[in-house]
Amino acid sequence: MTHDAAGRSDAMPLPPTPDYDVWPVEVDIVRLDVTPHQLEVEWADGRKSRYHSVWLRENAADDSTVNPATRERILDLSRLGAWPTLEAAQLEANGAVTLDFAPEGRRLAFHPGWLRAHDYSHLEALPAVLPPRVHWLGSERDAPTTLDASGWMAQASDPQAEDPLLSQALDAVLREGLVRLRNLPVEPGSLDAIARRIGPPRPTNFGHLFDVRAKPDPDSNAYTSIALAPHVDLPTREYQPGVQMLHCLENDTVGGEAIMMDGFAVAETLRARHPEHFETLTRVRWCYANTARTSDHVWFAPMIGLDGEGELDEVRIADFLRGPLLAPFEDVEPAYAALMAVQRLLAEPQFALRFGYAPGDLVIFDNRRLLHARDAFDAGTGGSRWLQGCYLERDELRSRLRMLKRAERRGRLA
Ligand SMILES: [Fe+2]
Repeated sequence: MTHDAAGRSDAMPLPPTPDYDVWPVEVDIVRLDVTPHQLEVEWADGRKSRYHSVWLRENAADDSTVNPATRERILDLSRLGAWPTLEAAQLEANGAVTLDFAPEGRRLAFHPGWLRAHDYSHLEALPAVLPPRVHWLGSERDAPTTLDASGWMAQASDPQAEDPLLSQALDAVLREGLVRLRNLPVEPGSLDAIARRIGPPRPTNFGHLFDVRAKPDPDSNAYTSIALAPHVDLPTREYQPGVQMLHCLENDTVGGEAIMMDGFAVAETLRARHPEHFETLTRVRWCYANTARTSDHVWFAPMIGLDGEGELDEVRIADFLRGPLLAPFEDVEPAYAALMAVQRLLAEPQFALRFGYAPGDLVIFDNRRLLHARDAFDAGTGGSRWLQGCYLERDELRSRLRMLKRAERRGRLA
């Protein structure tokens, strides 16, 4: 017999929810008040939540609303015959809410934990499922958030099960843009299985996994031993890969340290010091080009991308991947002035976090936020430096972390 947070038993199971998630009942409902268009719920902590009848009808969990096999919606609201309204509301002994809907004459049950978690009349109180972003300066820290992954890949991986190490790692990537795992296997190609613990890798013209090491006929500056300026990878694509993983297999060279910086901290510093340059870089579209011998990727986009709320969404900083600027004539000098302001910022020492790669190290970072760079390394002393890399999307990382949190909630209820 299981109990939820309020101590109810499964002798009176709560109604299903229109999803596969787990919704603990942390606060009980004490009173309902209903009008044709609205339900008001009063909770034991005094909060009063309001829900529209049309919203409730669309979010019911019964077989007329969602396909029970997929839990995807099958209801078409426009075919109900009239605007869905409420005729009666009942608070059940197990804490569920039962509502009678017109014009269908249908009685539908709602899970109190789900209602509380989707209380859109208190959007400010909705708990964030994913962690907030925290900007950082390299000068404030000695190393990336680092986790010991000894033995982790030897454990079975179950996408529905808890995995505290992966949960901590993905939390750090969403929060700080970067995490380092240590003591992973060093077999070439093992990155594929590591990445798939998060989600499917995104292949590119550099391969499904790519090898970062000096090679004789390079199709990227990354595949030489020269220093690399701070950059994101593949700004040359309409949609830059959201996540990059770099896995160190061998490193006994001199130099070649990793240098990472929070591109969003750089962008916010630019916004504070030079708002006019910031505005220019959110507006003028630069050319990003990777014109190799066998491919020709070109994309035009602003250097700083904002989301619909004006928050930072991505940076596209990579001097060696910019093609000729083809902007309106009057934008060209302001664009270059703004570019140089960014380049001066990138050279300021407070942003960079510098650390070495040991075999078995893996860094996972938000490729649309973090800038990575590298010192030159000496490829001619007999030493070797071999990283394997791959890309994923932010979507995969967010989905995986939501699944891990779901498993953690289920574990707390068991
Ligand atoms: Fe790179």
